[in-house]
Amino acid sequence: MSGLIIEGLCISIGERDVLRAVDLRVEPGTCVGLVGESGSGKSLTALASLGLLPRTARVKAGRILLGDDEILTPGQDRTAGVRGSGIAMIFQSPRAALNPVLPVGHQVERVLRRNGHRHHLRRSCVELLRSVGLLEPEQVAGLYPHELSGGMCQRIMIAMGIASEPQILIADEPTTALDVTVQADILDLLDDLRNRINMGMLLISHDLSVVAERCQMTSVMLKGAIVESNTCRALIDSPGHPFTAGLVRDLTQSPAADEWPVQASAADSGQASSQEAAG
Ligand SMILES: Nc1ncnc2c1ncn2[C@@H]1O[C@H](COP(=O)(O)OP(=O)(O)OP(=O)(O)O)[C@@H](O)[C@H]1O
Ligand SMILES: [Mg+2]
Repeated sequence: MSGLIIEGLCISIGERDVLRAVDLRVEPGTCVGLVGESGSGKSLTALASLGLLPRTARVKAGRILLGDDEILTPGQDRTAGVRGSGIAMIFQSPRAALNPVLPVGHQVERVLRRNGHRHHLRRSCVELLRSVGLLEPEQVAGLYPHELSGGMCQRIMIAMGIASEPQILIADEPTTALDVTVQADILDLLDDLRNRINMGMLLISHDLSVVAERCQMTSVMLKGAIVESNTCRALIDSPGHPFTAGLVRDLTQSPAADEWPVQASAADSGQASSQEAAG
């Protein structure tokens, strides 16, 4: 077996079941989408994979594997040593995830050090910042998070995420806070990296349009459960769950919808009759 495998994961927080029998698989080199409304359990699924569950969370059933290594089992609510070259994550709010009182270069160097780099840390850091598309990386390394734009903070988070060349990168809403043009740049950058190091990627979003263009398979999450998993094309052409159908309707009614190639097939199949009527 290879990649990230989540099997029958059930997690509760207090009396509430927040994840219900979640199954998910991310193979090396592939991009898998996870979409769902706010509070459906997307981030908790990601955090469980990194052993970063809230202290009040309890794993009731299921397991998480990275390749053949079991990294989370019932009763074992926090894993250790999974991060590093195994799984890395780009967090939902980059500015909040960065340390406000340390220059970003120091923060990237810390990750490099944790992953075994001992020499020429500044040089490696600058190369990494350049590789995620930051101009004048030597200067950027000396800046504090509040001196950077949202897009630059996101690129710093990506640099930290890929510093260990992880087998699996989880990107939790990596573009939600960004302008549309910056969003596309960031997603292109992640695609390039995935191809370059054969990394598997779990792309989390509440927006089906974000994953539709990038992911082969996508799972749809509702109230802690995966209600449907399929190729993006199949989800859009023939959604099997009413919640997915609602996401597809949102997609087809968006003003920018005709810019997406998958949109045409949804309209062709009659899923988007209102859009067709609108011309
Ligand atoms: N630390 C916590 N303590 C208590 N409940 C929590 C905690 N973290 C998450 N939850 C609850 O677990 C559920 C799933 O939350 P999660 O953050 O995974 O949602 P999400 O799908 O990522 O939402 P969003 O799209 O808003 O990021 C929610 O009901 C949330 O309130
Ligand atoms: Mg979330």
